[in-house]
Amino acid sequence: MLGLKLPTDPRWVNLAEMSLEEILTDHAYCEQKAATACISLIQLYPDKKELVEQVAPVVTEEWGHFRMVLRELENRGLHLGFQRKDEYVHGLMSFQKKGGSREDRLLEKLLICALIEARSCERFRLLSEQLQDPDLREFYRQFMVAEAGHYRMFIELARLYSDRDRVDSRWNEYLKFEGDLLKNLDLRGDRMH
Ligand SMILES: [Fe+2]
Ligand SMILES: [Fe+2]
Repeated sequence: MLGLKLPTDPRWVNLAEMSLEEILTDHAYCEQKAATACISLIQLYPDKKELVEQVAPVVTEEWGHFRMVLRELENRGLHLGFQRKDEYVHGLMSFQKKGGSREDRLLEKLLICALIEARSCERFRLLSEQLQDPDLREFYRQFMVAEAGHYRMFIELARLYSDRDRVDSRWNEYLKFEGDLLKNLDLRGDRMH
C-alpha cells in the first residue's frame, strides 16, 4: 500500500531495542516536526479550505503523539534528550523542486509529508511486530495506524490540488529518491529514519 522502494533493514528493530531512550527521543521529535509541518502548511495555504480543515485536527493529533512518547519515557524512567540533526528529512528536502508556483510548491510539501508518514508507518509496523516488550508493541501499533491515515490524507490532498498524473509521476520520483537516500544513510538504532 505504501509503495516504498526499499524495505527497512531487518536488523534495525534489534538496534532500536538496544537504544530505547534514544529512539523514543528521536520519535518524540518526529511527532513534534509532524505537528510543526502541519502548522506551517496552514500558515502558507490559508486559502485552501479543504487543506486547512483536514490538516488542523492532525496538528492536535501529532502533538498528542508527542505527549504519548513523553509519557512512555516517563513511565520507563527515561528522559527526553536533545534533538539531533535529521539527515533523512534534510535529504528529502534537498529533492524538493525550488521555485515554480505556490501550487507547485504545495505539491512538493504534501508529497514530502506523505513520504515521511509512509516510512514512519513502515517502521512503526516493524516495531509493533518484532519488539520483545508486548506493551511497546501495542504502543507502536497505535502509531502505525495513525500515520497510515496521515499518509492517505496527504496523498489525497495532493490529488485535490494537482492533477492525478502529475501527482503519480512526481510521487514515483520521490519514492525512488527516498529508497536511494536510505541506502546511503547509516543504519542506526537511535533514529526513527
Ligand atoms: Fe504522529
Ligand atoms: Fe503523522
